[in-house]
Amino acid sequence: MRYVFTTDSLADIATETAVLFIPEFDRISDRTLKQIDDATNGGVATLLRSGEFTGKADEAASLYNPAGFKAKRVILLGLGEKSKQTSDSYRRAMGLASRLKGLTGSRSAAVYFGRLADPACFQATIEGYLLGSYKLLDYKTGEASKDETRLKEITFATDKPANLKKLERAVNRGSIIAEGQLLVRDLVQTPSNCLTPQVYAKRAQELAARHKVTCRVLDEKAIAKEKMGALLAVAKGSTEPPRFIVLQYKGGPARQKPIVLVGKGITFDTGGISLKPSLNMHEMKQDMAGSAVVLATVLAASRLKIPRNIVGLIPATENMPSGHATRPGDIVTSRKGKSIEIINTDAEGRLVLADALDYANKFSPQAVIDIATLTGGALYVLGYSGAPIMSNNRKLADLIRAAADATSERVWEIPIWDDFRERMKSQIADLVNSGGRPAATAIAGAFLENFIGDWPWAHIDIANVDLEPNGKPYVPKGATGFGMRLLIEVLSNWKRV
Ligand code: BES
Ligand code: MN
Ligand code: ZN
Repeated sequence: MRYVFTTDSLADIATETAVLFIPEFDRISDRTLKQIDDATNGGVATLLRSGEFTGKADEAASLYNPAGFKAKRVILLGLGEKSKQTSDSYRRAMGLASRLKGLTGSRSAAVYFGRLADPACFQATIEGYLLGSYKLLDYKTGEASKDETRLKEITFATDKPANLKKLERAVNRGSIIAEGQLLVRDLVQTPSNCLTPQVYAKRAQELAARHKVTCRVLDEKAIAKEKMGALLAVAKGSTEPPRFIVLQYKGGPARQKPIVLVGKGITFDTGGISLKPSLNMHEMKQDMAGSAVVLATVLAASRLKIPRNIVGLIPATENMPSGHATRPGDIVTSRKGKSIEIINTDAEGRLVLADALDYANKFSPQAVIDIATLTGGALYVLGYSGAPIMSNNRKLADLIRAAADATSERVWEIPIWDDFRERMKSQIADLVNSGGRPAATAIAGAFLENFIGDWPWAHIDIANVDLEPNGKPYVPKGATGFGMRLLIEVLSNWKRV
């Protein structure tokens, strides 16, 4: 996609289709609306009278051949009530527009912002377009594998020359972030036979090399040497060997302590000997979503030149049943030295994260954030609407909350109470890996807390938000990429915690 930036006036923009954002209205008082109404022989008034378009959220309407315009089509997108508008209104509107025939069938389109000056809205607009138009065609064949979208160029237009640079920077930023989010979607939707831990590690190395990020991969021998007994207990059942991926981006001064991101990278979760039911098991290729967010975030941080040192840690393995697999009741020793009684082999995410969190100590981190499809129970905490988070540090939790509000990747904090810590204690070992159903999401976080060092830590459970069940304006049905916009915002606005 080519991006062009201009201060040409609405009628003069050289494009096939002009796109405009319209707040809810009940009369044509707005200057731009009036201009279009005049150019289309009362077209806007007709839309208003018929109720076809009044600027409500998720409304779109097209008007054709506006007199005196270079564009042959104008698409109006509703932003909803003015008082409720946020940057997400633009993301939603553009996400919906991205799949309209009028837009996909045009070779060029222009988004007209008028006098708007908010870079967050500019950024959200390109994010909405890229996220909304996402399709995975790699596994189709023949005609079905071809993308029919003709759009090659988007012009972004502002009335104010003083806003032009701001607009260009925001669109560039939004496109980098959205492309990262699309990488997450691609990786999550790649089937497990095409994304084994070994293949995943290779992909990470290729991508890192292209983006000035260093990538080191520990193979099964190096993992054993690190005494990552919890990770190895999960990996044992599979014929595919595990990999431990270490990404490093140095955007800050050498002495700046890094922020470490840890992502769960189970490339397929059968449950192991505690086998999952078969009904939705195919969805468990998604169980590396947290790690994909970590990978994409480190790459995007480098592209955006965020002035921080960032480490990404990805324990990647399958969780399979076999004659070599860990049995319920087995006791294993984690890298930290704590013993874990494995009550349920399907609670494998916390095992691989335990060793990765302990490995983070190597980097003397200033803070650690882990992100994982950890518990099915997350769905019963916040539905599909936002991710539960847990933290040992008020400032870090607040930083994540603020980033969530700004990016519309919503989170809400749940507590780590002593009751939850108690539930994860074993009678004969130090810990159990499963403490039963009630508060399953919270006790999983309480388990992880045993493996953190003396640093601020936050845990984000994305098991309920990494797949979109129905499809939303800028999130087609399937993998969402949730967490990537959020973490980039956290890193961009980083404050000492
Ligand atoms: N990967 C799953 C969690 C999950 C479930 C993610 C559904 C996405 C959708 C995780 O490894 C798991 O199996 N968790 C168990 C833990 C239990 C055995 C303590 C769960 O949540 O049921
Ligand atoms: Mn599991
Ligand atoms: Zn899992």
